[in-house]
Amino acid sequence: MSDHHDEPESTGDEPSRTPVQMPTSASWSDPHLQPAARHPQFVERLIGFTFIVGLLSFCAFGAAYWQNWAPWALGLTLGAGMLFVGTGITAWGKYLMPRGPFVEERHVLQSSKQDVESFTNALVERGATPVKRRKVLGGMLGAGMGVFGIVAMFPLLRSLGPLPKNTLATTDWKAGSYLVDQLGNRISQYSLAVGSFATVFPEGWEDQDRGQAVDQTFLVHLEAEGPIAGMPAGRSTWTPAGYVAYSKLCTHAGCPVGLFERELGLLICPCHQSMFKLAEGAIPIFGPAPRPLPQLPLAIDADGYLYASAGYNQPVGPGYWERP
Ligand code: FES
Repeated sequence: MSDHHDEPESTGDEPSRTPVQMPTSASWSDPHLQPAARHPQFVERLIGFTFIVGLLSFCAFGAAYWQNWAPWALGLTLGAGMLFVGTGITAWGKYLMPRGPFVEERHVLQSSKQDVESFTNALVERGATPVKRRKVLGGMLGAGMGVFGIVAMFPLLRSLGPLPKNTLATTDWKAGSYLVDQLGNRISQYSLAVGSFATVFPEGWEDQDRGQAVDQTFLVHLEAEGPIAGMPAGRSTWTPAGYVAYSKLCTHAGCPVGLFERELGLLICPCHQSMFKLAEGAIPIFGPAPRPLPQLPLAIDADGYLYASAGYNQPVGPGYWERP
């Protein structure tokens, strides 16, 4: 028993071949297509709908990001955009593009010239037709991806926040700034007993975020009279009436330095236990802090109130560049 094939007549010197009908044009009734592709207009409309919803979702995500909406709104809009555009792309490939398998029984590896031409024509026609006829879908897909690309730039445009400008190098302390407590009360030379300390701010900045952050200063009445012996050269006038003031921002990693060891005259950082010698310009004598706490030069006015005779002698907090 033998299979029936419509075999061409052999010329004797040609190899035996089994001809396979190659498709030469795209047809919506082609059995190789997915069932849903038999209704291309409907599928096109469906895909167009998903692209439009995806595009609107990306727009909504952009608006939500710009308006700083809740995180769930950002996730919902971005997720919906990706879901609908992705669904559209998948459906386009699955239902509107030619699908295989295309089988050709082959007995020799070399194709005849006629087969090559036939295959090339079929490939060009079948590949080009669905793309050419769907410029609208392509446009919508491009618009959706374009909007997505724009909103993806938003973190660079907005989330980096304002430039720090000179805030890394300066504070709000300046010559003439009165020392006040957290409630805005000025500190006089009689406010603290010897051995007592307080956290002070420049007047007018005690209730500001920036003042709380970079201006906080450790003031201690270290000795009964000034100037304090042992201060670095050139600071003999910075410690009137035995008061001395240093930045509270640790020079290691910026923790607030607030543990005062009275007997030893040390200021201790609670984070990594750096110790600063108060009577000697707050030099670090232990721990990872690389340099002394910046000192605030003090003065006393005619009414006995403490004020700064200048700003800090160097930038506060951990160094952000190499310093001597
Ligand atoms: S932050 Fe002060 S010792 Fe590390």
